[in-house]
Amino acid sequence: MAKQFFEKNHSQLRFHCWCICLSLWLSFTINLSTYAQPKNTLIPKTAKKISTDLFGLFFEDINYAADGGLYAELIQNRSFEYSPTDNRQWHPLSFWEYITPGFSYGSFNVETNQPVHINNPHYAVLNIEHIGTVPPRTGGNAQQPLPASITTGRPGVGIKNSGFGNIVVKKGEGFTFSVFAKQLSVSPVDIYVSLQNTKGKVLAESKIVIDKKSWSNYSTSLIADENCDSTQVVLLATSKGKLALDVLSLFPQNTFKNRPNGLRKDLAQLLADMKPAFIRFPGGCLAHGDGVGNMYRWKNTIGPLEQRVEQKNLWGYHQTAGLGYYEYFQFCEDIGAKPLPVLPAAVSCQNSGGTWRVGGTGQQALPMEEMKDYIQEVLDLVEWANGSASSTWGAKRAAAGHPTPFNLKYIGIGNEDKITPEFEQRFKMIHDAVKAKYPDIELIGTSGPFHSGEDFDKGWKLANDLKVAVVDEHYYVQPEWLIANQYRYDNYNRNAGKVYLGEYASWGNKQYNAITEALFMTGLERNGDVVSMASYAPLFAKQNFTQWTTDMIFFNNSDYYLTPNYHVQKMFSANQGDYYVDGIILKDNLDSLVGSSCVYNSKSGDIIVKLVNAGNTTKSVKIDLSAFKAVGIAGTKTILSASADAKNGFESKNIVQPVSEQIAIAKNFEQSLPPMSFTLIKVNTQ
Ligand code: AHR
Repeated sequence: MAKQFFEKNHSQLRFHCWCICLSLWLSFTINLSTYAQPKNTLIPKTAKKISTDLFGLFFEDINYAADGGLYAELIQNRSFEYSPTDNRQWHPLSFWEYITPGFSYGSFNVETNQPVHINNPHYAVLNIEHIGTVPPRTGGNAQQPLPASITTGRPGVGIKNSGFGNIVVKKGEGFTFSVFAKQLSVSPVDIYVSLQNTKGKVLAESKIVIDKKSWSNYSTSLIADENCDSTQVVLLATSKGKLALDVLSLFPQNTFKNRPNGLRKDLAQLLADMKPAFIRFPGGCLAHGDGVGNMYRWKNTIGPLEQRVEQKNLWGYHQTAGLGYYEYFQFCEDIGAKPLPVLPAAVSCQNSGGTWRVGGTGQQALPMEEMKDYIQEVLDLVEWANGSASSTWGAKRAAAGHPTPFNLKYIGIGNEDKITPEFEQRFKMIHDAVKAKYPDIELIGTSGPFHSGEDFDKGWKLANDLKVAVVDEHYYVQPEWLIANQYRYDNYNRNAGKVYLGEYASWGNKQYNAITEALFMTGLERNGDVVSMASYAPLFAKQNFTQWTTDMIFFNNSDYYLTPNYHVQKMFSANQGDYYVDGIILKDNLDSLVGSSCVYNSKSGDIIVKLVNAGNTTKSVKIDLSAFKAVGIAGTKTILSASADAKNGFESKNIVQPVSEQIAIAKNFEQSLPPMSFTLIKVNTQ
């Protein structure tokens, strides 16, 4: 039977075999030409593999970086959740003004008995008792300015909000206004929503009718018909009645990648331009919080906005959680950065209660009986980020609009905590549980707030005892420290945990600070086999709302400027390699003011040489690219050069900025380095 079958199908089989051979040969040849490119053979023998996630970003809601900053919401205190615990002067109606144009009257107050959601307890009640009439403006009073209480030509009872300092709108710009509201009176209530300048001139207007007796979301679109730097959002009820209001939002329609509930486009683009390998969030001290009740709990920050739990920001203001874990993960994905959430190690900041000033409570630890649930919360984060859309927590991610996993790889546990027995016990419990369930997740331990000392030693010891993959180091230092310690990692133990330099900066935003950071960063690249990640901190600072003086990007409600430190960070993070190549730059090794590194990016085929001169005289180095078998004849040279004291500002944005040019490349050449400069040379191996 088999023989018959074989004979019958013999020629057909032969043809099939021939086809298979041909396709195998073809695919082998195609594979050869696609993958066996010279790139792979171009890696010099002196090269060593380094981290591909070396340079990333640290994001914390400090200096109004999130609410009033990167998070694009324009209304301040949109949910009436501000309170004296945020800031002694604040209460649920802060930043709202009650208005009664046309001699109307009624009342405006806060209630809590039937909130839109239990997580969002306060809401406002507007009672419109009488709609007046705007007095005729003819004859003698026509030229007189309107009283401040009459901000619109239309009479009514309402509220207005001027945002975080001021709201800036541009002619033609579109906004979505939305509100949760409930009709409390017998009749529906008409509301005019408008954007107005401070003189009451209407720049955009729309009408909504609150006609549902249960909490419902109403929204409308507004397009500004002129530019205005001090816009107010005005809600004016023009019919008698009573209504409840909550989560009032004015959101620009033009956000980064047009994400609803998204990010301010200009600021987000600055981060995208840096091509960071990862983004750490939500802090900083914000992560472990001011007391255990203030720890950042990720589950409170996902889901519908009206259900998120707002809380005090330990930097002296308020967190709406509008920029929550979903938005952080989405942004990471949007710019190709790995998410690096930092979760509290079940202890709060050692400065809780203001220890450094008035003698606060110090570090607080979550009671042991709460640890089981807390550990589950950590495990649930992995399922939320990486689980299938049919898993319990993956389904919540999918419901928010992201059915595919986010590919979470790193989790930080703790933020520069004091290494107490309480910390150690809780860290170990969390560590063991995560490693047991998710062995592929790389956990990042912590080693206190300084570059050395008791917590530093104890943090490292604990991490090494537990074989933690990576340990977070933090230090804010003088520029001279960076120069003196540029070789810090040359002798680090290669057989222990790797380093994540999670927060560092020199104290200042002058060129000298940035250049010493660049010098130090050449040491990070040189040691990219033991330093696996690094992020400058803090990232953003809002003009007039700053709690930390040295920052990377300064902004206000319509503008920003970049520090020399930003330019240095961008030059490193947008030009990363996966191999460090020794012996390419010949320099005077005794000159501690000249730093250099050479990396090779095997994906792009780029050779990237970084040269730093932190001295006040011109220096010279020799570059020898002959270790690379093929080198292009042209490349790009970018220089960041300025006097040591030079810095940028809102009125002088470009005093310090990198300048690029195309240059001819020889295998051997000499490069002169201007005083106080950072030079980057990039050439391809094609
Ligand atoms: O980056 C500012 C603060 O510095 C961080 O919140 C904290 O971790 C560090 O002390």
